[in-house]
Amino acid sequence: MTQFQTLIYEKQGSLAMLVLNRPEVLNAYNVAMRDEMYEALQAIRDDPEVQGVILCGAGARAFCAGADLTEFGTAPSQAIARQVRWERDVWGLFLSLQIPLVAAVHGYVLGSGLEMALLCDIRIAAEDAIFGLPETSLGMLPAAGGTQTLPRVIGTGLALDLLLTGRRINASEAYDLGLVARVVPRQRLMDEAREVVEGILASDAEGVRRTKRAVQYGMGMTLAQGLELEARMAVEIFRGRRGPIPAWRGVLES
Ligand code: COA
Repeated sequence: MTQFQTLIYEKQGSLAMLVLNRPEVLNAYNVAMRDEMYEALQAIRDDPEVQGVILCGAGARAFCAGADLTEFGTAPSQAIARQVRWERDVWGLFLSLQIPLVAAVHGYVLGSGLEMALLCDIRIAAEDAIFGLPETSLGMLPAAGGTQTLPRVIGTGLALDLLLTGRRINASEAYDLGLVARVVPRQRLMDEAREVVEGILASDAEGVRRTKRAVQYGMGMTLAQGLELEARMAVEIFRGRRGPIPAWRGVLES
């Protein structure tokens, strides 16, 4: 187990557990958590033993109640804030992971909490989960990828409804919208997440990695390009090719 202040990072065999751990403030995402998340995700990326990740929140009340409101307006300057975001691109790091990520969410899942879950591959919600993106009412916009990831997950019209109104929805509506893949009783949440990851890990790792990549890269392609990418991925698996998957442009050009 790696020691962090705001996270718990624990390896259980090939499974990495990443727990947002500021329960006294509903796991609000602050600068310290950003820095530690960046470190933990790098550790996951660089550890060949880790084949799957569960992201969840500590405490009874929340997965994450969004960005830490007490830090608003404390960035030294916009230029420095932008440079730090560039140097520690946590959201880019989430998306760069080739292994499956499962978000197991409960209680409040607000703002960057929801956006982090959207950067995972599969979202499982406890029945008590409440989702919302309150950023516009705070004079901001969701900047942890939410304006891009949410429409890709639930479609433009439904995403704009949540993004522009900031209204909160419960787990049942989140399921109906396709925002979460499963809803389970609170006490069942972690077992369900573990079973999902273990089920995926029982499959061929290359098949899983390339399927994930084909979907991710394909979202930015025309159907014809996506089909070509899929065919190439299938050939690579057939030929038993191992190793990192190149960026999608490289895949098409190679
Ligand atoms: N940043 C910093 N602290 C936060 C926080 C956040 N985003 N969300 C909750 N907290 C803190 C509260 O200040 C409170 O701390 P305290 O006990 O020292 O007073 C503690 O977490 C518990 O929250 P509280 O507001 O007392 O619980 P509640 O049940 O009355 O309300 C929420 C829960 C989630 C509805 C409410 O905390 C809230 O609206 N939080 C902000 C959500 C938000 O706007 N996030 C930013 C998105 S960009």
